[in-house]
Amino acid sequence: MIIAIDGPSASGKSTTAKGVAERLDIIHLDTGAMYRAATYGIIESGIDLNDLQSIHEFLKNMVLKFDSFNHIWINGKDVSKKIRTNKISSSVSAVSAVPAVRFKMVETQRSIAKGKDCVLEGRDIGTVVFPNADFKFFLIADILVRAKRRLKDLEKIGEERTLNDLINDIKKRDVSDSSRDVSPLVQAEDAIAINTSNLTINEQVEKIVQIINK
Ligand code: DC
Repeated sequence: MIIAIDGPSASGKSTTAKGVAERLDIIHLDTGAMYRAATYGIIESGIDLNDLQSIHEFLKNMVLKFDSFNHIWINGKDVSKKIRTNKISSSVSAVSAVPAVRFKMVETQRSIAKGKDCVLEGRDIGTVVFPNADFKFFLIADILVRAKRRLKDLEKIGEERTLNDLINDIKKRDVSDSSRDVSPLVQAEDAIAINTSNLTINEQVEKIVQIINK
């Protein structure tokens, strides 16, 4: 069983996908974390984000994996916390728009989920990675709610930002994620839309689990 949960940033995908996976006792794959880890690796290697040749070289040698705690590792380093900083958030859209990056990620995502029951969250799961997924959900939320959620996440890792800055960052990322040439963020025709603005995490999870159980 493949469950696709797509949506824009801070729409509630990660917490919902994690909760659904726990409830159904199946695997949870955070594909955004994969794009973030690749971005981290590229920046750490001193590669300019416009230097496509060097990004291609980087991808050839990149080793990306999740451990049993669902921590993400790139080239032997656990980067689970490091990929949540604002620096990575503001660069990841550019990296995830590179076709070679997308090709490698989609291939890896399919091979991780192959033959398993899995909840995958991202931007293109129901449209590109698994267009025949058994269940497709598209999460949305008001911009203010999303910015507040991001503010809380950043506070947890000690990063100080204003709500206004985050509103602007999220809007920018929405535009670049939705307007890129390769697999842009778009709701699959057969996806069920869920607005999480006024839902608790439990309610979000419950809504999805009920639909699946039906
Ligand atoms: O869900 P997130 O904010 O952690 O995702 C980080 C970025 O990765 C997001 O701006 C777009 C990109 N992404 C993508 O292009 N395709 C996916 N399946 C998941 C994420």
